[in-house]
Amino acid sequence: MNEKELEQSQKAVMEKIIYLTKQRGFIFPSSEIYGGFAATYDFGPLGVLLKKNIEQAWRFWNVTSRTDMVEIEGAIFMHPKTWVASGHVGGFADLLVEDIVTHKRYRADHLIEEAKIMPNAGGLSPEEVDEVVTANNLLSPDGNALSKAKKFNMLVKTHLGPIEDDSTLVYLKGESCQNIYLDWKAVQDTTRRKLPFGIAQIGKAFRNEITVKNFIFRTREFEQMDIQYFCKPADSAGLYKYWKENRWNYYSGLLGINKEHLRYRQHEKDEKAFYARDAWDVEYEFAELGFREIEGVHDRGSYDLDQHSKFSGVDLTYFDQESGERFNPFIVECSAGFSRMILAVLFEFYKEEKVTSAAGEEDTRIVLSLPYHLAPYKCAILPLSKKEELSKPSFELYSKIRAMGMSVDYDEAGSIGKRYRRQDEVGTPYCITYDFETLNDQAVTVRSRDTMQQERVKLEDLQVFFAKAESEQGLVARAAKI
Ligand code: GAP
Repeated sequence: MNEKELEQSQKAVMEKIIYLTKQRGFIFPSSEIYGGFAATYDFGPLGVLLKKNIEQAWRFWNVTSRTDMVEIEGAIFMHPKTWVASGHVGGFADLLVEDIVTHKRYRADHLIEEAKIMPNAGGLSPEEVDEVVTANNLLSPDGNALSKAKKFNMLVKTHLGPIEDDSTLVYLKGESCQNIYLDWKAVQDTTRRKLPFGIAQIGKAFRNEITVKNFIFRTREFEQMDIQYFCKPADSAGLYKYWKENRWNYYSGLLGINKEHLRYRQHEKDEKAFYARDAWDVEYEFAELGFREIEGVHDRGSYDLDQHSKFSGVDLTYFDQESGERFNPFIVECSAGFSRMILAVLFEFYKEEKVTSAAGEEDTRIVLSLPYHLAPYKCAILPLSKKEELSKPSFELYSKIRAMGMSVDYDEAGSIGKRYRRQDEVGTPYCITYDFETLNDQAVTVRSRDTMQQERVKLEDLQVFFAKAESEQGLVARAAKI
């Protein structure tokens, strides 16, 4: 493959995923009947199942299987002072440059990085951006000159109540975690926790991003999965190291992402967010996009509690009974983008395999080779024929399995080969074919997604078959092996 062909084949990965996820009901462009609405997406039935499974894995790994974590669910609207105290009103800005002809606006650091002038331009000041633009004669994607760089605050603003003036101005959450800092004392008091312990939250965040692109990678509304781990200042360095390792094991072990597609990248001095003393990004290699951030691990020190106690006038300190000291705990933060995690999983497990049909014809099958615990459906019931003598008992079997709490699909449309392919494409690990023989021997054909091997299993043994699959490949089993 020459470089161009290679580039072309790689370019297609995102397009293929966008196509597959739309066709198979994972992710739809939002408001599509009105022509869509910039970078907004809806999760369809399959997308919700996948998302819930990833959420379950994250919650199990970070909260419910541990003794030192609790979870909250905070409101989206928060007192506007929150965002002044947090530093977002003053400092949550990206640098934009404008095409002086078309007036289209761009993130300055992205244009510089895409032009391969430097790899991480996020820390440049407006003056430094102007210097880089001039020195490299950097033009807009439409080939026009660029304006001087200026700061653009990303908080999304709205008004609450019947009057629209400064008194009713509120901000949507620029980062989801702020509820955790405001509630930290209430959580500590009500749960009688001692340091160190963590508070987790999955919640929405909103950012008025200058440019949105790459499907669900960068949107203006998204979810974050946060761990805020509170500790004594002296313990923070060790815990920071511990959480970095923990997050690596989560991605590589629990989600099953190949370690070669993951890396850590430390933020450069000027690149760090205003709240961070140190910051490392977990990056995933999204094929043609290269390595991109999916999670930030940040040493936030006592910045957040210091700021909120200063602005609210409320004492947020922790009393350490051992030393008799009072202090604002330090915080280690692990903040992941939920949609980026989902996209990384889709990139990782999307496979195209050369296969030979029974008639000896070469073909390509698309497989979403998701680990069992992430698969939207654990199995699909496929009657060999639509005739009632097969479809009726098949549907009954389907209803029975659903009533047992297992996620299962039913499909009687098209040839059995086509139906296998459809299930491969959505990652269903097992297909159960109910055929005419079943009426006599009370057994079904179970076909594995990965090996395409088939075995005959008695109907009465199906429960044991799936109990075994769960005990060997389910979430708890997988976590135990890490
Ligand atoms: N509380 C810390 C915080 O918000 P961040 O690095 O700005 O840190 C955390 O965001 C994660 O949120 C990122 O690693 C990324 O996965 C996700 N994220 C940030 N901006 C996003 C956007 N516009 N669209 C989708 N995900 C985004």
